[in-house]
Amino acid sequence: MLPGEIILPLLLLGVGLCQSFPHYTYDDMDDDLAMTFDYYKDTDEVDYRNGSVCEECMPELCHETRGCRAGLVRDSCGCCFECGNLEGQSCDLGDKNVHYGICGEGMECKLDPINGAYEDEGVHDAQCVCVTQEPMCGSDGRTYMNLCKYKEAAFESPGLNVSDGPCKTVPIIKVPPRDLVNVSGSSVVFLCEVFAFPMALVEWRKDGKDVILPGDDPHISVQSRGGPQKYELSSWLQIEETTRADSGTYRCTGRNEVGDVSAAAVLGILPPDRRCASSRPDEELQV
Ligand SMILES: *[C@@H]1O[C@H](CO)[C@@H](O)[C@H](O)[C@H]1NC(C)=O
Ligand SMILES: *[C@@H]1O[C@H](CO)[C@@H](O)[C@H](O)[C@H]1NC(C)=O
Ligand SMILES: *[C@@H]1O[C@H](CO)[C@@H](O)[C@H](O)[C@H]1NC(C)=O
Repeated sequence: MLPGEIILPLLLLGVGLCQSFPHYTYDDMDDDLAMTFDYYKDTDEVDYRNGSVCEECMPELCHETRGCRAGLVRDSCGCCFECGNLEGQSCDLGDKNVHYGICGEGMECKLDPINGAYEDEGVHDAQCVCVTQEPMCGSDGRTYMNLCKYKEAAFESPGLNVSDGPCKTVPIIKVPPRDLVNVSGSSVVFLCEVFAFPMALVEWRKDGKDVILPGDDPHISVQSRGGPQKYELSSWLQIEETTRADSGTYRCTGRNEVGDVSAAAVLGILPPDRRCASSRPDEELQV
């Protein structure tokens, strides 16, 4: 039997040790503090964490862990809960919580494919990456690039809802058609790349005419394909066997329920013998 005056200091010492565990609690930590903390995690102090100090788990001594924007994970002793690391933070590869900590819910620890080569030189480049990479639209009107980013934001603003896909937006022309000059009889192609949510419809017109191309013109064709990125559409306008009458301004219009946007390019068709006369359509042509 130990006398009371010895037991109390021992208990306090026990609690003190527990509190000195590097990533024991992240409660309401701000970024500066978190940085200090990361530094602390990197020191030799961590070496005893999986040693005798945490042999016996006493859940009742665990601190209540609050304010975890990426959910809870077990600490290095597999005993108490602590905050999971956020997307973009350093992490321990594998499922052992040794040095940098474990990624929060829905994330995995991945080595940076470019800088990962330096790992054995003591530079650590494994980071938490969200498993799902589908963009989502928040009820605050902001687009969240993945579920993890949304969860982080939802932690700060409870009641923030989200729906699949980016927020609704007027189409954006990522790649507009470019001015072209060629000789009659040649074949020309204009490209127009449009991002939109909901997806856009892309239409081509020649300025001064109401017809949506190709209309009934057998030497004009329009082709569209989804991509190259998600929520994008690529559309090509091809004019074969061009004649001088094809010269003019061609306009692609991206339209969805939110609105429309357009971009235009000039086509200059020169007589065959003028092939090398000019590279600028407006110098040589009345269009
Ligand atoms: C602590 O963990 C490391 C890595 O998992 C291991 O190599 C080491 O032997 C462990 N130390 C103790 C005292 O269990
Ligand atoms: C989110 O959804 C819940 C339940 O559907 C609703 O009560 C709440 O008002 C919504 N929050 C926002 C910000 O729209
Ligand atoms: C000009 O016409 C030729 C022959 O049809 C074609 O191969 C070439 O790609 C055209 N150049 C441009 C810039 O459209």
